[in-house]
Amino acid sequence: MAPSLHSRPFLLLFVLLSLSILCMRSLDASEPYLTLDYYASSCPSVLEIVRKEMECAVLSDPRNAAFILRLHFHDCFVQGCDGSVLLDDTITLQGEKKASININSLDGFRLIDRIKNKLESECPGIVSCADILTVAARDAVILVGGPYWDVPLGRKDSTTANYDLATANLPAANEDLLSIISKFLYQGLSVTDVVALSGAHTIGMARCENFRARIYGDFKGTSGNNPVSNTYLSNLKSICPATGGGEDNTAGMDYVTPNYFDNSFYHLLLKGEGLLNSDQELYSSLFGIQTKGLVKKYAEDSLAFFQQFSDSMVKLGNITNADSFSTGEVRKNCRFVNT
Ligand code: HEM
Repeated sequence: MAPSLHSRPFLLLFVLLSLSILCMRSLDASEPYLTLDYYASSCPSVLEIVRKEMECAVLSDPRNAAFILRLHFHDCFVQGCDGSVLLDDTITLQGEKKASININSLDGFRLIDRIKNKLESECPGIVSCADILTVAARDAVILVGGPYWDVPLGRKDSTTANYDLATANLPAANEDLLSIISKFLYQGLSVTDVVALSGAHTIGMARCENFRARIYGDFKGTSGNNPVSNTYLSNLKSICPATGGGEDNTAGMDYVTPNYFDNSFYHLLLKGEGLLNSDQELYSSLFGIQTKGLVKKYAEDSLAFFQQFSDSMVKLGNITNADSFSTGEVRKNCRFVNT
């Protein structure tokens, strides 16, 4: 018997999940190489140094927290968390910074350089750029009001980057929910991780080119006719014209508290006001039965969100590239492999 219209989404989701699990890259979430006290004797002040630099940076501009958090995510989804995203292009190496998903979009590199320089003068050649980025992302979240978690350490920096994988592995704003879920499953993350980690969009900004399709598409449909949403939508349209131009104009993804890490992002999704198509789909997609439930849960219970976000960030940070442990290094300069 052909599946009914109602059972079809379940069937599709089931097939997709099974396929994704089959082709999942091998990942050990309890990464054996990483330990909490990795630098205890070789660089005992590492956490304090990262924390101090992040404090100054976030105090001077809270957007720095968003830059670093996103940079860490974009590092980990391409060959694991190995600092590959930090590498500049050279004659012999094509970096990831110019991949379409990253170009004109990532920032925070100079802040990482600054932390690295401090650490090189304190404990030369000891702390990897990948570890710096992972700890800095944790501190970024705390500094804008989010939860704390312990960061396992001991990552090595890659000697390679992968431009093509940056395009293939990283999710985009107008990608549908099932495709995004499959990208997370491929990394060994779960549907719960997708919803919790998307909560990172409680801070930071998106550029017009990433939300134009949404505001001239189904924003009205998901947000209904409530006057507050209408005013919000008109404002977004003035930032991001339909006919083009203003590609780099920005809007906060959580317009209520854009500089504060809280669960108001999920409240926006309940109201149908998510800025990115990909975010709103978590609540509104026909295929999002499980994700919708989680959005409701995190909107109602910020503690549950904080707990899951912490756990999911540890999982994200533990996506490691087994190769980088054998061929990796501790870069002297995060932008270049050692000579
Ligand atoms: C679930 C799939 C995801 C998609 C489709 C997605 C997509 C995007 C897009 C399109 C932007 C705006 C970029 C721009 O306009 O330049 C953005 C910003 C951001 N993303 Fe995501 N993202 C996802 C997941 C994540 C995750 C897992 C994290 C971190 C754990 C994250 C952290 C951020 C942050 C902090 C910003 C703001 C950056 C800024 O202010 O410059 N995102 N994301």
